[in-house]
Amino acid sequence: MSDQQKSQVSAATPTAKVGAVYEPTEYVRQQSWIDSMAVYEDLYKQSITDPEKFWGEQAQQFLHWEEPWSEVLDWSFGDDLHINWFKGGKTNVSYNCIDRHLHDGRRNKAALIWESDERRSKVYTYQSLYTRVCRLANVLKSHGVGKGDVVAIYLPMVPELAFAMLACARIGAIHAIVFSGFSAQALRDRIQASGAKVLITADNGMRGGRLNPIKAQADEALLECPEVEKVIVVSRTQQQVNMEPGRDVYYHEEVARKDISRHCEVEWMDADDPLFILYTSGSTGKPKGIVHSTAGYLLGASMTSKYVFDLHDDDVYFCTADIGWVTGHSYIVYGPLSQGATSVMFEGIPTYPDAGRLWDIVERHGVNQLYMAPTAIRSLMRSGNEFPATYDLSSLRILGSVGEPINPAAWEWYYHEIGHERCSIVDTWWQTETGAHMITNLPGITPMKPSSATLPFFGVQPIVMGEDHKEVPVGEDGRLCIKFPWPSMVRHLWDDPGNARFKETYFSTFPGLYFSGDAAMVDEDGYFWLKGRVDDVINVSGHRIGTAEVEASLNSTAGVAESAVVGFPHEIKGEGIYAYIVMKHGVEAGPELSQRLAGAVRRNIGPIAKPDVIHVVNELPKTRSGKIMRRILRKIAAGITDKEQFGDLSTLVDESVVDEIIETRPNK
Ligand code: PRX
Repeated sequence: MSDQQKSQVSAATPTAKVGAVYEPTEYVRQQSWIDSMAVYEDLYKQSITDPEKFWGEQAQQFLHWEEPWSEVLDWSFGDDLHINWFKGGKTNVSYNCIDRHLHDGRRNKAALIWESDERRSKVYTYQSLYTRVCRLANVLKSHGVGKGDVVAIYLPMVPELAFAMLACARIGAIHAIVFSGFSAQALRDRIQASGAKVLITADNGMRGGRLNPIKAQADEALLECPEVEKVIVVSRTQQQVNMEPGRDVYYHEEVARKDISRHCEVEWMDADDPLFILYTSGSTGKPKGIVHSTAGYLLGASMTSKYVFDLHDDDVYFCTADIGWVTGHSYIVYGPLSQGATSVMFEGIPTYPDAGRLWDIVERHGVNQLYMAPTAIRSLMRSGNEFPATYDLSSLRILGSVGEPINPAAWEWYYHEIGHERCSIVDTWWQTETGAHMITNLPGITPMKPSSATLPFFGVQPIVMGEDHKEVPVGEDGRLCIKFPWPSMVRHLWDDPGNARFKETYFSTFPGLYFSGDAAMVDEDGYFWLKGRVDDVINVSGHRIGTAEVEASLNSTAGVAESAVVGFPHEIKGEGIYAYIVMKHGVEAGPELSQRLAGAVRRNIGPIAKPDVIHVVNELPKTRSGKIMRRILRKIAAGITDKEQFGDLSTLVDESVVDEIIETRPNK
């Protein structure tokens, strides 16, 4: 968070105690797996002094291995960039998440509790998960899907989404999930980039009482994806939708086919074989296909699930994320299920039918761990304390936060009104690329400082670097990097010959280090304070949006010459999207411009990327070398109009451009 953002937050929230430290309660500590800071410190030390020994032991403890590995780690963050964990070892993610629980006393335990938008719930035991996943895996096989093939998945939050992931993992197929809020064009781009030949989708989605016509979107995307031979359609709303003869089949009919067995042998995979691709935004226009591995990824997701959420066998765990994002991959499906936990999967939104929805779920299912994003916390906080006060939240023990820095006011509200001052709040910093939590407190033991993600998880070696390529001193802002590989890290980018883009994006800014793209500061206690992205990525409601993608959509609108998109502090979303637009010479902006621009973004990306502010300007501030000076645009978007605070403007071609932008700034 910038200083500007911080001052806005604290000005708006006088109750926030900046700098407060909260000791965890005995209520949480007494049952936490890691039960003292001394144990944490000792294990952390072991994890970085002899990582191979440490990770070898963890891999034995957390995963089933069909064949042992010969080498724990082989790596280089240099020219010869490569990261291999557990070489030679063979395992299977579906086996680890399902089969082993059929024999460890959890066969009849709830694996998934699905809560529908309409407030119905369905429970799937590990045994029923096994049958459903095996049947679907056999269906996929019958359509020619095998090891190494990519299956695109464009589904709302229905249980079949989890079944589909595990079915792919079972047969060694690589899933590429596309968030169901993405548009047809975004889906098309991701299907084309992934090379998928099969798509699993639904007739419609249901969220907040509204129908999302998923199949119609998929049909539009598929017009330009001739390689997709089969489309498996989940019937969520049982409504008539277009079904292409020969291509489209219904999920429920397929899994009920007479020739489909309810058993399916797992495909034993190499430790580093890809488990999934997940596209995420970066600094340039094209989304990056993050490739996660089989064993290392699962080890990270599983181990953090156990220790950070302190999962115990009787617990009911609830992560409110959508599986279309990495949080749902790691912390609705893979992490909790590999731990044999009960994971709640929620189809709807926190404010439907009213702002008590999540608390109602906590009460009805007796949720012990709740994991959500600050943006949702802020919006529920705004709805008033009467909603949580109406429900029995006494089952809660651990409250998680993810996706963006949590401002102190939201933290305090979560702690007092939801956790009743008994729960630990775990502020988990991580990324699509890291696969699992990296910097986080551990429940019951780490003293909490609101807004700090606190300390590194086992094996994680963060370092905050200055522009001079030296580690910054305590208390100073710098860029967050990681020195040493961790098992759940991204292995490579999909379709990136020679690792060119992989190297350039993560390993070139600070040679020899993984660069996260985030700003951070370490305080005198070694606590990490995350300060937001330093690249051209905006974090809107905890979702990563690349400014280049939004600009490409805006520039495709008739009459637009060019645009520049930046983030600005937004009370609920964390960051909002501010778009500067330059019209083509002689073209009037016109009253309907905002709608046309919003429509273009909606079509190209999806509603989440719609600009909050449109500002039509005559020119963008450019340097003599033709680069847009974004730092000025960010300041103006944040409401800073005093040029004294803009820094050096001497490289600008024409400084009066800046004056014009300040003068024409719309009232937000
Ligand atoms: O800027 C950081 C922010 O979210 C980015 C990663 O986004 P994504 O890959 O979509 O993954 C989101 C879920 C892990 C990071 O670069 N971020 C995530 N968690 C936190 C955070 N910023 C501050 N504190 C966090 N706890």
